[in-house]
Amino acid sequence: MSIVKIDSNDNTEFKSATEELGVYFSSLAAKKGRKITYNVLTYGCQLNESDSEKLEGMLMSFGLTHTEEEGELAKADVILMNTCSVRENADKHLFGNLGVFKSSVKQDKDTIVIICGCMMKVEENVERIRRSYPYVDLVFDPQQIHRFPVLLRDSLRKSKQLVNIGAIDYIAEDDYFPIARQRKFRALVPIMYGCNNFCTYCIVPYARGRERSRNFDNIVIELKDLYSRGYKEVMLLGQNVNSYGLNNEDGKTFKDVLEAASDIGFNRVRFMSSHPKDLSDEVIDLMATRPNIEKHLHLAMQSGSNKVLKRMNRPYSIEQFLDIASKFRSKVEGGSLTTDIIVGFPGETEEDFCETLKAVEKAAFDAAFTFQYSIRPGTKAAAYEDQIPKDVVTERFDRLLKIQNDLAFKSNEDKVGKTFEVLIEGMSKAGKGTYTGRTLSNHLVNFTIPEDIMPQDEDLEGRLGIVRIDHARPYSIDGVLERFSDV
Ligand code: SAM
Ligand code: SF4
Ligand code: F3S
Repeated sequence: MSIVKIDSNDNTEFKSATEELGVYFSSLAAKKGRKITYNVLTYGCQLNESDSEKLEGMLMSFGLTHTEEEGELAKADVILMNTCSVRENADKHLFGNLGVFKSSVKQDKDTIVIICGCMMKVEENVERIRRSYPYVDLVFDPQQIHRFPVLLRDSLRKSKQLVNIGAIDYIAEDDYFPIARQRKFRALVPIMYGCNNFCTYCIVPYARGRERSRNFDNIVIELKDLYSRGYKEVMLLGQNVNSYGLNNEDGKTFKDVLEAASDIGFNRVRFMSSHPKDLSDEVIDLMATRPNIEKHLHLAMQSGSNKVLKRMNRPYSIEQFLDIASKFRSKVEGGSLTTDIIVGFPGETEEDFCETLKAVEKAAFDAAFTFQYSIRPGTKAAAYEDQIPKDVVTERFDRLLKIQNDLAFKSNEDKVGKTFEVLIEGMSKAGKGTYTGRTLSNHLVNFTIPEDIMPQDEDLEGRLGIVRIDHARPYSIDGVLERFSDV
């Protein structure tokens, strides 16, 4: 399939649909005598968050206002759910919420319900919406986001449910989308789209299409603009950032993007995700030497058994994986290594699972996202006949979790008594007067601020400070702010 390159010069239909929606919503506002509101609920990874920032930017460009009723998704006039197909119970969340939205639509016939995201690439989910949820106005998938205004306009014109699922490998450049960035200090920047790896359990290559990389110069323009607007942290996104640029003609690699972002001068440059097969020594060296590149590598291991890795279509051996892990540990001082692991992949024996446990101990991950294998219709592994019984999966999962939690706690305990620079994200859920932030190695820190250094009436989101750690928890570390480091 060919790649559709789009930029702000060829968006005539996008613009005219946006204008038409602006007129529609302003007359709705006049009819109701109040502002028309929207709310967006996002599941899944940072790529979905980034998509939601674009969708929200578009909703705002139609003249809509974010609902003030935080958490009350169903009370908005336009309700949008951006779904994920990986997380456990994704379907329960979606269909549970759809039940709740029904009463909103009953109360106000003008309410608009929109469902998008990776779950919409699974035919049975779309069928269920068609069959049982007629009040859903619009359904589309991640490969149609650049057409959102056109699709919404068409569904309103027809006054009936519009389902638009397709396969457009678009690549958006320049200022094609209005983006409503959710964080004051952190900007999400997708540098590539899609995935070509077809790991046998994974829906992503079907949901997001073929791998394609953005133009290097355009990424640099966007990064410079973000820096000039005061963003302290940038997060470079892709399903496999290390294969950035493989199909571009300028020869630029991920190392070039990382270096450019670091040169621009952000306080922090982060990236997600790396595939072990493509991670280069050059990138590890850059992480080791550049003070503003995060000392954190997220490298999905998936399994410790070579037999299972092969059936997953992960083209590396566990020995190669552990070599990369020790290279990272020896080169990047104070670095943290995190991973994804799937338990109970079809055909996984007790022996295979024990190899995973051994590898986890050897790699000594600072944290891990652990998943119980679950069937994704349409993927190769869904047809494997040797699926593992649920009770065996759960039992193995609990054993893995115990070992990984102990490792994470140990990694956190090592930080006690030391000081770290923390980028402040805001108030913590841990309790009143407590703030939260992350170290350069991506450790979550909850901390208090002594009264004598507490700035008056100032929003601390995006500030940097030095925190002395005095306590370790399984998933975070606690401390006290000694001073601000950005003044
Ligand atoms: N591209 C990233 C990589 O390969 O490192 C991973 C992105 S994927 C959206 C996030 C994680 O979801 C995967 O690494 C895998 O552990 C997990 N995952 C994907 N499909 C799954 C499935 N069918 N069952 C359980 N876990 C799954
Ligand atoms: Fe899924 Fe594999 Fe692609 Fe990651 S690399 S998104 S796990 S297919
Ligand atoms: Fe989920 Fe799609 Fe991301 S399946 S994890 S939202 S790429």
